[in-house]
Amino acid sequence: MKILITYGTRYGSTAQISQWMKERMPSSAEVSLLTVSQVESVSAFTHVIIGSPLYDNDLLPEVKRFIAEFDDDLYNKHMGVFGVALSHLGRGLYGEADGGLVYFNRFFNYLPTKPIYSRLLGGALHPELLNDRDRKLLEAYYRAKGSKQIPFEQEMDKEQVWEYVEKYLDFVAVKTRLQEKMNRTSPE
Ligand SMILES: Cc1cc2nc3c(=O)[nH]c(=O)nc-3n(C[C@H](O)[C@H](O)[C@H](O)COP(=O)(O)O)c2cc1C
Repeated sequence: MKILITYGTRYGSTAQISQWMKERMPSSAEVSLLTVSQVESVSAFTHVIIGSPLYDNDLLPEVKRFIAEFDDDLYNKHMGVFGVALSHLGRGLYGEADGGLVYFNRFFNYLPTKPIYSRLLGGALHPELLNDRDRKLLEAYYRAKGSKQIPFEQEMDKEQVWEYVEKYLDFVAVKTRLQEKMNRTSPE
């Protein structure tokens, strides 16, 4: 197994989550952990896991660029995707009824094929790290909700991330068994 875990991040929580994923991979696997901007080719990998935080109910632009650039090459990979988000923001920023779902539907729209496994994972919000644009945006958002300041939020959970990897590997095993069975039964 040659696995690429690749992600976009603005403030580091998706990088941390991707690192936790790498730790949970089997020792027999060759695992590369790269930001989407660092990836030059995916051809050497059999497995690709793509992660993006949710910003304004969408993926980061560089993750969308990555998917568009490697579109055809991703088609035959064992592909997993994950989103990183704060659930309450996901439900409210632009009045979306369920931001997490809206976001995931968008993720699927960008992909060349259905992933083996996908899940939205808990992220974090560190107000002191925010750039000016994001601070202003979130100040307005929280003000509208009656909050004087942007709160510190922490929904990151290593167990949830490891569970993601376990499920992903389970589904890879099921798909591989099915493919082997079909290869055995298909006529020459
Ligand atoms: C400006 C801004 C917009 C955000 N928009 C959303 C959103 O629409 N839905 C959501 O669930 N989380 C939203 N978040 C929360 C981020 O997804 C969360 O903080 C995530 O952990 C950030 O990942 P990163 O540290 O890898 O950049 C937003 C955060 C910021 C700062």
